Amino acid sequence: MNAIHKNAQVLSTLKTSNPSARRSPIRPVLAALLSMTTCLGLAHAAPKCDREADALLSKMTLDEKIGQMTQVDMDALKDKADITKYFIGSMLSGGNSEPADISPKGWLRACKEYESYALQTRLKIPLIYGIDAVHGHNNVDGAVIFPHNIGLGATRNPRLVRRAAHITALEVAGTGIQWAFAPCVAVAQNERWGRTYESFSESPALVSRLGAAAVRGFQQPLPEGNFVLACAKHFLGDGGTKDGIDQGNTVCDEATLRKLYLPPYAAAVRAGVGSIMVSYSSWNGQKMSANKYLLTGVLKDELGFRGFLVSDWAAIDQLSSDYKTDIEKSINAGMDMVMIPNGPGQKNNYVEFIHLLKELVREGKVPQSRIDDAVHRILRTKFRMGLFQHPYADPQLNAEVGSAAHRKVARECVRQSLVLLKNENHALPLSKTIQRLVVIGRAADDLGVQCGGWTISWQGKSGKVTSGGTTILAAVRKAVSPETKVTFSPDGSNIEGADGALVVIGEQPYAEMKGDRNDLRVSAEDAALVQKAKAAGLRVVTVLLSGRPLVLGPVLESSDALVAAWLPGTEGEGVADVLFGDCRPRGKLPRTWPRNNDQLSLTCNSPNASQALFPYGYGLSW
Ligand code: BGC
Ligand code: BGC
Repeated sequence: MNAIHKNAQVLSTLKTSNPSARRSPIRPVLAALLSMTTCLGLAHAAPKCDREADALLSKMTLDEKIGQMTQVDMDALKDKADITKYFIGSMLSGGNSEPADISPKGWLRACKEYESYALQTRLKIPLIYGIDAVHGHNNVDGAVIFPHNIGLGATRNPRLVRRAAHITALEVAGTGIQWAFAPCVAVAQNERWGRTYESFSESPALVSRLGAAAVRGFQQPLPEGNFVLACAKHFLGDGGTKDGIDQGNTVCDEATLRKLYLPPYAAAVRAGVGSIMVSYSSWNGQKMSANKYLLTGVLKDELGFRGFLVSDWAAIDQLSSDYKTDIEKSINAGMDMVMIPNGPGQKNNYVEFIHLLKELVREGKVPQSRIDDAVHRILRTKFRMGLFQHPYADPQLNAEVGSAAHRKVARECVRQSLVLLKNENHALPLSKTIQRLVVIGRAADDLGVQCGGWTISWQGKSGKVTSGGTTILAAVRKAVSPETKVTFSPDGSNIEGADGALVVIGEQPYAEMKGDRNDLRVSAEDAALVQKAKAAGLRVVTVLLSGRPLVLGPVLESSDALVAAWLPGTEGEGVADVLFGDCRPRGKLPRTWPRNNDQLSLTCNSPNASQALFPYGYGLSW
């Protein structure tokens, strides 16, 4: 039996074991067709894992089941022994939750220890540890940091995105972690939203293509039976909130909701995604965390999603003023696992969650069948990942975190993500033998600014945030001839007489909530740097580091060449590769570029799209 045939058979069994599918004779045929375009899916065959999950479930007590549905943040865990005591099924590290030693070895040591507590339980069900590896394994010192999704969107290259996700999975697995809260498949419609950079594009089709590629890359089997589960997030409509407000309200009819935001989930499900995170946001005033129609009706029943749903960080707590009601509503809506950042002594903590959910089952408010379904989904996924056989990391992978081979892939991503917006007077490519090149702007020598949010810490920060990596300035110095003099002028002083200027400007790091902004103009200081260089009579090449298109104002006018480099991550050499002509610019805008603040929000579907500064898909080359 050839591989496609075999895959088709496995997949059709998988699909037909879904009760609603059994009824329809065309479903198996569809599934077989589908499987030709789907990837490997999870590591182990579905029917066998279903049976294993059934058998294990039948042995479990209610406490053990509820433990599987509980996900505790590292900082919330009061006592490691609680993992054993409460049969905790999952842990996570939020953006700011980390071990004392954040080196790859430090993370591995910590995660291994948590796992060991789970394996001391009666049934020895392994813990699945999750983390926001959203552009590489970004909270680990020395890990390779990839461009944020907006930059990957500019590459239009699913094969490269898949490779990037696979490298990330290797680094994640190398630290004893088995679950990445990625890819974010938001279809950001409003660039005021501070999470715009986590979105590949404003286009549902592009997000679908790249999101599915990322799922396949993450879930590609790893050495020694290691496996990393992907998590498409945040379901549904996170990128459509009114005024781009984080965690806000997406107001639209169902047809629009389906057209703009659902396709990436359908694609992710087809690619075999094992988990999906539910959005904080609301649809027409109703919070997603309790939306039974969308979570169960659309995602699980209609799209046939057979993995499990995890809530966002304390997101169910927002449903009402009563935690017990929140739990009842979310679990009954179809939530399978709840992410809990609070520990004993804090409001809505994991001990309370366990206790209240148990009460709800006893009172008949949450049906036993719902608990069994949730736990079956979680166990089945753990079986499919091969987690029971391989709960611990392959030590060899740990040694490879941040390796030269991994950095090479990130550098390629950077090269392909740069979008050339303007190039006059032959400003680009720069000559490697230019006599004196002045590099202007603090951002040129700032790894933290280059990486953006979700880097080492939740919001990210300016400065040398991680070991390894190359700033743009350092990359320029490496690229030029030995005779070339490169001088660095953070503030634009002492630049007269140079033979060319490279000005690097951009946004300071931010992440969710704190990055929401109504004014998207390039800062006055940054604009002044570019103008200063122009006034000194230099030929000006400007590189913009940003998580979204910014209103350029005088920057465009004063630059001979302008490159949108997004948030490229640690591999600044990818920027230099393009600037000095080692490769041609090939990125295409993943978003429509606004001319001024009045045009916000602007996408290719806006009535005023024709007045954009640069249209969706724009990008020059030479
Ligand atoms: C974010 C998620 C993230 C989670 C865990 C939330 O606030 O919305 O994207 O996965 O925190 O850090
Ligand atoms: C955590 C993040 C989380 C955020 C949400 C932060 O403290 O580190 O992971 O997404 O809180 O409020």
